[in-house]
Amino acid sequence: MSKTWRPATRLVHEGTLRSQYGETSEAIYLTQGFVYENSAAAEARFKGETDGFIYARYGSPTNDMFEKRMIALEGAEDARATASGMAAVAAAILCQVKAGDHIVAARALFGSCRYIVETLAPKYGVECTLVDGRDLANWEAAIRPNTKVMFLESPTNPTLEVVDIAGVAKLANQIGAKVVVDNVFATPLFQKPLELGAHIVVYSATKHIDGQGRCLGGVILSDKQWIDENLHDYFRHTGPAMSPFNAWTLLKGLETLPLRVRQQTASAARIADFLADQPKVAKVIYPGRKDHPQADIIAKQMTGGSTLICIELKGGKEAAFAVQDALEVIKISNNLGDSKSLITHPATTTHKNLTDEARAELGISGGTLRLSCGIEDTDDLVDDLTRALATVSA
Ligand SMILES: Cc1ncc(COP(=O)(O)O)c(C=O)c1O
Repeated sequence: MSKTWRPATRLVHEGTLRSQYGETSEAIYLTQGFVYENSAAAEARFKGETDGFIYARYGSPTNDMFEKRMIALEGAEDARATASGMAAVAAAILCQVKAGDHIVAARALFGSCRYIVETLAPKYGVECTLVDGRDLANWEAAIRPNTKVMFLESPTNPTLEVVDIAGVAKLANQIGAKVVVDNVFATPLFQKPLELGAHIVVYSATKHIDGQGRCLGGVILSDKQWIDENLHDYFRHTGPAMSPFNAWTLLKGLETLPLRVRQQTASAARIADFLADQPKVAKVIYPGRKDHPQADIIAKQMTGGSTLICIELKGGKEAAFAVQDALEVIKISNNLGDSKSLITHPATTTHKNLTDEARAELGISGGTLRLSCGIEDTDDLVDDLTRALATVSA
């Protein structure tokens, strides 16, 4: 593929392995294994003397196409496609730590990500310190000589807080730690963590990359050396591999990613401005607005806003439930990044397992709603929200 091709072109063509039939669309290679011409060929493949696939848990042609397309988009050297976003997060963190190591993570994490660092890693003797990731001084105060991993998502789920990725990477480099960024909310189009100095990027491909509510998937991207030395064996022997069918679905998703994300972001920007003017809305947090508390960091590290909006209603949980229940176009669902607009009440769904205190620290209250804007006509979304807000008294 031409290195000068722009992202939208590479997202349609990069990595295609066309078979002898010359198919236009990528083929789905639904196979568990691969047949060798003879014993010597099998031996050579296992020794790594010849290229080729060995077993679908290690890698397979459709997955390879998906990984190559993601590598091109992200500017990475290598990647592994995983069965879900959580498989990617777990593998990216656990493959590189051992008992006695230490992790520093932002406390504002998706619930399952927080489980990995706060509950699971300590069971294996890996300590974790959670910090308010918005202030670099907190990261600096938490690092120790044995800190191996610094983990964050930015913008965060659901309150769209932002972490200074370049700043965290600078601190990590001083002690030889690796920065893992969950880039799901920013999308690969609007934020390039590797260019900002992060070492590993993970995605839930379930979100914008599929974007059409069909299948789960994830991906881990980094430099070749880190993958060879840390992830390669872990991935082969613990088995978080993506199904080739899902890899094919996600390849199709990548083709339309820029079109969808651009439309979703344009809608979200307009809806955020609309909501900010509504008397029943206490607060709107949107990375594209000037009043975002960390607008300066956003300007430094993101090239677009977000498909997501965090809304705080004055009337608390009662108002939040009433608004959700009155919506017709926008569906109640805890997923995000979909073509369909989706809304969720984090305190009772995605973040229900946190203590009241932890939720308060993250700014999640009874009145908080997270809206993921889809590709519907923006006017219909504004009408839907107008109608729903009219049903609450305050
Ligand atoms: C920020 C973030 N990271 C990771 C995940 C996990 O992804 P998956 O559901 O594909 O396992 C999610 C899912 O909502 C998420 O929002």
